[in-house]
Amino acid sequence: MAVVEVPAVEAYGARVPLLGLGTWDLRGRVCARIVEQALRLGYRHVDTAELYDNEQQVGEGLRASAVRRDETFVTTKIWPSHFAPRELERAAKSSLVRLRMSEVDLLLLHWPNPQIPLSETLGALCKVKRVGLARHIGVSNFTVAMVEEAISLSDEPLVCNQIEMHPFLDQSKVMAACRKHGMAIVAYSPIARGSVKQDRVLGEIGREHGKTAVQVSLRYLVQQGVVAIPRTSRVERLSENLAIFDFALTEPEMARIAALAHRDGRLVDYAYSGSPRWD
Ligand SMILES: NC(=O)c1ccc[n+]([C@@H]2O[C@H](COP(=O)([O-])OP(=O)(O)OC[C@H]3O[C@@H](n4cnc5c(N)ncnc54)[C@H](OP(=O)(O)O)[C@@H]3O)[C@@H](O)[C@H]2O)c1
Repeated sequence: MAVVEVPAVEAYGARVPLLGLGTWDLRGRVCARIVEQALRLGYRHVDTAELYDNEQQVGEGLRASAVRRDETFVTTKIWPSHFAPRELERAAKSSLVRLRMSEVDLLLLHWPNPQIPLSETLGALCKVKRVGLARHIGVSNFTVAMVEEAISLSDEPLVCNQIEMHPFLDQSKVMAACRKHGMAIVAYSPIARGSVKQDRVLGEIGREHGKTAVQVSLRYLVQQGVVAIPRTSRVERLSENLAIFDFALTEPEMARIAALAHRDGRLVDYAYSGSPRWD
């Protein structure tokens, strides 16, 4: 089996593989098996969260793959109900116990939580990094204003903002804010939960390159230096989603894809509701 080499983006010393495996909604044996298979094919970056209730299986899959821990990049996220400083540290330790790891590569604040001062949460997140539970830290679902605030409050570099991003959504403003501060951008729902498959323009562009609409969608992101973390529960789709580093989209094709963004393109409600129903 040919192993695909995935390039990485760098942010404050973190080397984040441009393609990772999303694991939301993957549970039990399916989750462990998909993670193991993904690593065998060349995936090195796996995205989980305490909320996903699968950190244990993600850890099992990683170990079963026999890929060395220092060759993998594992992200997990703290849910906003654990943003009070002492709770945050406890939540980070619990994630590590479930993953059976001494540290994660990247630890994110999953969603903003307006109930708890960001300065306190970031103080705790920085401490978790300093004591060696996370190699790098970052945020997720932060708007432009929140990115600016977080940067001004954090004593440690915030290496990424993980946000919803795919061809149907224009995220240029928050991307610009992240880039200004040297943060990597990680795109979640990068194939719009599978719906890019039905798009006529993406299909047409794909045919020009002998690729699928899903591959065009992922290529569109990584070609901009944006990390994409598509999820699949099907082993056969792992290879399809990984085979995006052997072709390039032209500038007119990139512009055609950018024009697919529309006002109702967002899939995940941006306003944090305190409810885990989206993710
Ligand atoms: N930070 C956050 O707040 C946040 C929010 C949402 C997601 N995330 C992360 O981002 C990851 C990805 O986002 P997502 O899970 O929302 O959506 P996604 O990756 O855009 O789409 C996943 C869906 O696409 C289907 N799919 C995968 N590969 C395919 C292919 N080659 N052809 C056709 N369909 C395909 C999957 O079905 P099958 O399983 O049947 O293949 C699944 O239904 C999550 O798993 C999670 O790790 C983070």
